[in-house]
Amino acid sequence: MKQVNLTGDRPTGRLHVGHYVGSLKERVALQNTGKYDEIYIMIADAQALTDNAEHPEKVRQNIMQVALDYLACGIDPDQSTIFIQSMIPELTELTFYYMNLVTVSRVQRNPTVKAEIKQRNFEASIPVGFFCYPISQAADITAFRATAVPAGEDQEPMLEQCREIVRKFNEIYGETLAEPKIILPANQACLRLPGIDGKAKMSKSLGNCIYLSDEPDTIKTKVMSMFTDPTHLRKDDPGHTEGNPVFIYLDAFSKPEYFAEFLPEYSCLEELKEHYQRGGLGDVTVKKFLNHVMQSELAPIRERRKMWEQRLPEVFEILKEGTKTARAVASETLCEVRHAMKIDYFADDNLLK
Ligand code: TRP
Repeated sequence: MKQVNLTGDRPTGRLHVGHYVGSLKERVALQNTGKYDEIYIMIADAQALTDNAEHPEKVRQNIMQVALDYLACGIDPDQSTIFIQSMIPELTELTFYYMNLVTVSRVQRNPTVKAEIKQRNFEASIPVGFFCYPISQAADITAFRATAVPAGEDQEPMLEQCREIVRKFNEIYGETLAEPKIILPANQACLRLPGIDGKAKMSKSLGNCIYLSDEPDTIKTKVMSMFTDPTHLRKDDPGHTEGNPVFIYLDAFSKPEYFAEFLPEYSCLEELKEHYQRGGLGDVTVKKFLNHVMQSELAPIRERRKMWEQRLPEVFEILKEGTKTARAVASETLCEVRHAMKIDYFADDNLLK
């Protein structure tokens, strides 16, 4: 079976380091293994509009920003097809057929949808389109026959819902669609990077993100203001590393060679953690080290982004070409879906019989 990799991001803002460790880094690594026959990266503008109907301009402006973030991270347009969701009407059509295979109560039970409804105060008035986005996401995935979706663990309920739709479709209309599996980051700290304020999720509306495009001084200010262990008041107090944002970031980003370069008193993260737990290690020392780590990790990304910012017409062409390629694939799947459902009325003269 063909190995097909697909993911997407809502263009509601620039991408941040949570996106990076949770999924983008993995996508680039998977791309560079050369093990996939096809790789699709989707800018999910139609999904972004499900809770931004009144702000289409915000979504529009972030299309190029997200494309730049992708290219900055090392997504290579020669290996990966980058495309814009709403420019592929087949995805909307597929969503409409899938809607009949899912019950309202099933979507209501989806934990990610539940959490997002709460987050947006939608309890009393959920837009129908927003409610249906898990179904539309199943269309995104299956239209490209994706077998693997590298994403954060918050996407697992979406994948589960997608697999249910695939099974139901195949059961009713015959074997047509492929079931996808999620690829989670191996590093636990990358599963859910907290915000710099220690809140569980990095989110633009909370103002607690470090963006991939942040300048060095902004990164430094953010790192130095990060929440740490509230019980570690004095340097000599024993400290907690577990659940401590600064150490979670170090778990996600630090490499042994950074110790030799920036903090040679310690040989590895374990040693640093032990000292912190014992007491005698101040937050400022740890934050200064984290700042060096973040600067080292983000500098090449920011530089590549600046390079692509000088070549916007080329980025536009990449999106246009990618969307054309993607549309051809989705359209082929739609033909098969219509055939399986026997609604391809003009493909033969069966209607006459
Ligand atoms: N829901 C994803 C997010 O919020 C975006 C998305 C849309 C997606 N379609 C997808 C992710 C298909 C993976 C596969 O980031």
